[in-house]
Amino acid sequence: MDNFTYFAPTKFVFGRDTQKRAGELAREFGGTRVLVVYGGGSARRSGVLDCVETSLREAGITIFEMGGIKPNPTDDRVREGIDIVRRENIDMLIAVGGGSVIDTAKGIACGALYDGDFWDFYCGKRPVERALPVGVVLTIPAAGSEGSGNSVITLREGAIKLSLRTEVALRPKFSIMNPELTESLPLYQTACGIVDMMAHIFERYFTNTPDCEVTDRVAEGVLKSIIIEAPKVMARPDDYQARANIMWAATLAHNGICGTGRREDWSSHFIEHEISAVYPEVAHGAGLAAVIPAWMEHVAAVNPDKVAQFAERVMGVATHEQDEDEDELSLLDAGIAIHRTLSTAEIAANGIDRLRQFFRSLGMPYDFGSLGIKEPDIPALVAALHLHKGNPIGAYVPLTPADTEAIYRRLL
Ligand code: NZQ
Ligand code: ZN
Repeated sequence: MDNFTYFAPTKFVFGRDTQKRAGELAREFGGTRVLVVYGGGSARRSGVLDCVETSLREAGITIFEMGGIKPNPTDDRVREGIDIVRRENIDMLIAVGGGSVIDTAKGIACGALYDGDFWDFYCGKRPVERALPVGVVLTIPAAGSEGSGNSVITLREGAIKLSLRTEVALRPKFSIMNPELTESLPLYQTACGIVDMMAHIFERYFTNTPDCEVTDRVAEGVLKSIIIEAPKVMARPDDYQARANIMWAATLAHNGICGTGRREDWSSHFIEHEISAVYPEVAHGAGLAAVIPAWMEHVAAVNPDKVAQFAERVMGVATHEQDEDEDELSLLDAGIAIHRTLSTAEIAANGIDRLRQFFRSLGMPYDFGSLGIKEPDIPALVAALHLHKGNPIGAYVPLTPADTEAIYRRLL
C-alpha cells in the first residue's frame, strides 16, 4: 500500500425531504447571495428547484439563477456564470442537478476568483488555490461530483474535454441527497449513471499496487451492491431503498475511498471523454458501457491477474469447471469428482463476458453503432486522446496510441 492523504470534507445530508434544508445548509457555509445553477428542465418539472429556492429565501438568502446547462457542459456557460458572479457579488454556488450542472458550478466557483482565464485550471497551467463554496442538491447518481474535488468541462473550440482535479478546493461544502428525487430519471439515464459509478471504482481497482486488501474489499463490496441493487431500480423506479443504495454507492465510488493507498488508472475515462467531447449527444455512462469491456479485454491479454480477481470476487465466476470429457465419465460414475482449474486468462474472460451481459441487461450501448456514431474517425480520436492525456495513458497497463486505436477498433 502506498502512502496517502484522504480528506473528503463534504457534509452529506441524505434522505427524504432533505432538499428542504438547502437554506439552513447554505447559511451554515456562509451563503448570502447564491447563484443557483440547474439543467435543462427536469429540476423545474419535478418541483425540486422551487423547493430549494423557497428554502433559500426563507433563510434570508438572495437568489440568482442560471439554467439550461446541457449534458457534457461547455466553457461558454462557465464564462457566463463567472460574469454573473462578479456582477452580482455572489458568495456561493448551489448546483441542483447532476454532474454537468455541478461541474459547471465548480468551474464558475474557481474561475470567478481568478484574474486569468478559468481554462488555465483545466489545462493544467495553474493549480486552483481558492474557490467560492459550492453546495449541491443531487438529482442523478452517476458522476460522483457531489463528493469529488473534480470538474469536467469541454472547451467548445477544438472539442477538448478535460478533467480538473483538486484535493479540497472544489469539493462541495455540502451535498443534499434525496433518493426520491431520482425517481423521475428516465431508465436510460439511470443505467448510464450505474455504469459510470462502476467505472469510477474500476479506475481505482485495476492497479498494480500490491497489498491494498482493505481498499480492494471496499471497492468489491460497493461493486457487488450496485450489481444487486441495479436490477431492482430498473424494474421498479420507485423502489426507494434500492434508489437509496444506488445513490450512496455513486458517492462512495468517486469520493476517493475506493482509491486509497494505490495508483489509479483512468484510461477508460480518457478513452470515453474523447468520444463524448466529439459526440456530445453520447451520455458519458453510455460511452463507458461500450469502452470498458473493450478496454478490459485489451489489458487482460497483457495483465489478467486483477481482472480475474474481479471476475471471481465480484462477478461470481467459478475458478474450476467440471470436466465432461468422455474418458472421465467412468471416474465420475465411480463418484470421483473431476474438476479442471481454469486459467487466469479464462477466469478473466468469463468475468468480462458477465460484465458485458450486465451492461446489456441495463439496455446500454456496446459499440459505436449502438452509441449512434455512424462513421467514427478513429485516427482523430486517438490523436486527440494522446495530445490531451499524454503517451502512454493509464497505469494498470500503460496504453500507447497503437493500444488505444485497437480498443476503439473493438467498438466498430
Ligand atoms: O438537464 P436536465 O433537464 O436536468 O436533464 C438531465 C440530463 O439530461 C437528466 N436528469 C438529471 N436528473 C434528473 C434528470 N431527469 C429526470 N429526473 C431527474 N431527477 O439527466 C441528464 C444527464 O444529466 P448529467 O448531469 O449530464 O448527468 P451526469 O451526472 O451523468 O453527469 C455527466 C457529466 O459529468 C462528467 C461527465 O463527463 C459528464 O460531462 N463527469 C464528472 C465527474 C466529476 N466531476 O467528478 C466524473 C465523471 O467521471 C464524469 O466524467
Ligand atoms: Zn465517469
